[in-house]
Amino acid sequence: MTAAETHDLATRLRKESALPREWEAAFAAVDRGAFVPHRAWFDDEAGIPRPIEYGTDEWTRAVYSDEPVVTQLDEGRVAWPGVSRLVTSSASQPSMVLRMLDALDVRPGHTILEVGTGTGYNAALLGARLGDENVTTIEIDPALARQAREALHHAGHPAITVISGDGATGHPPRAPYDRIIATAAVLAGHIPHAWISQTRPGGLVLTPWGTSYRNGGLLRLTAHGDGTASGHVIGDSGFMRLRQQTTPFGHASRLAELVETDPTVTGTTTRTPPAEIGEHPDATTVIGLRLPGVQRSIGVDDPERWEVLLYDVATDSAAIGYVTPEAEHAGSYPVRQYGPRKLWDEAENAWRWWVSAGRPRRTRLGATVTPDRQWSWLDQPDNVIHPCLTPRDQSRTHRSRASTTRPLG
Ligand SMILES: C[S@@+](CC[C@H](N)C(=O)[O-])C[C@H]1O[C@@H](n2cnc3c(N)ncnc32)[C@H](O)[C@@H]1O
Repeated sequence: MTAAETHDLATRLRKESALPREWEAAFAAVDRGAFVPHRAWFDDEAGIPRPIEYGTDEWTRAVYSDEPVVTQLDEGRVAWPGVSRLVTSSASQPSMVLRMLDALDVRPGHTILEVGTGTGYNAALLGARLGDENVTTIEIDPALARQAREALHHAGHPAITVISGDGATGHPPRAPYDRIIATAAVLAGHIPHAWISQTRPGGLVLTPWGTSYRNGGLLRLTAHGDGTASGHVIGDSGFMRLRQQTTPFGHASRLAELVETDPTVTGTTTRTPPAEIGEHPDATTVIGLRLPGVQRSIGVDDPERWEVLLYDVATDSAAIGYVTPEAEHAGSYPVRQYGPRKLWDEAENAWRWWVSAGRPRRTRLGATVTPDRQWSWLDQPDNVIHPCLTPRDQSRTHRSRASTTRPLG
């Protein structure tokens, strides 16, 4: 039964050109249903994970669909059939899994470290293609690591090494690796250096990459063998962050409310369409790099009335740009800003930088990692995209200047 369902899923993926030829045999050999727990969650139309259970059509449809299946909520604190939006582990969307495996560019005999074992499904695909003995996978959540180890064992992959630990430190005992693949996202500027130092010269590190503003890139770095690595954003991805890099959760409604009601809020208008600041995939990637820590959320009342909320939990600042038919007609959009940072102004400045650079596509961006420094760039490593200084940073800079000059006096 499951072989037939795997076959049907393969047929659908092939039609979408989402099943690379080199991965056909491994995909056919690994049953996703052997890795998804019997009690899991599947997003409804509103994007809320709803409980599904083995033995039901719902579970089977979810597991053999080209969609992610949620396998853990709130680090296990929300037990099935409870519901939460805080997804902390999932079996990733099969077409995304395959796109990443394709981009990993593996060859026979390659050794792999996967960071973020989750269910173990991706590790099993790697084992089926490269030999189980060449695959090491590391998972931070001990319960998930144990489940994955058991699933891999039952599915005929007992020789895959499953480590329970923090993947940000890699796994030195089995290094160096030809390839490191992360299936949890990193923040720009926070790529673990252990991944570079544990990759063979010329080897690749493939990781979901982004910012608090847009967590959607896929970055492929080449290790140069001298402790440094660099490479381009090669496409999009949509993964949860490494656990130690998660952005504050659950502040959007409170801050949106303050923007709407607080008497200190300043109201202005802008000619920059909020869609450019809040939705454009290339612009939002660059704005995120220039405004680290700032988060973004879209609120939709109806298709013609919606808003872009920007917020920074560290300084309790927020801003909203409103889209209405009247604003669209006038080409002038209301903006409200709350708190010490004028986030809308900051985002518009970052957007202007992107426009003045010729509105580059996000695949023209890249990153370089060295042992003591890392940065993002446009086109080549010397064209650095600097984070904008916030008012807080500026006062810090003045303070540190003052303190370095004082001893001379
Ligand atoms: C999208 S899931 C991985 C899906 C998985 N590759 C599969 O095939 O099912 C991301 C996983 O990364 C894990 N994770 C998050 N931070 C981690 C870290 N620092 N080290 C190792 N694993 C981590 C999460 O617990 C979660 O299980």
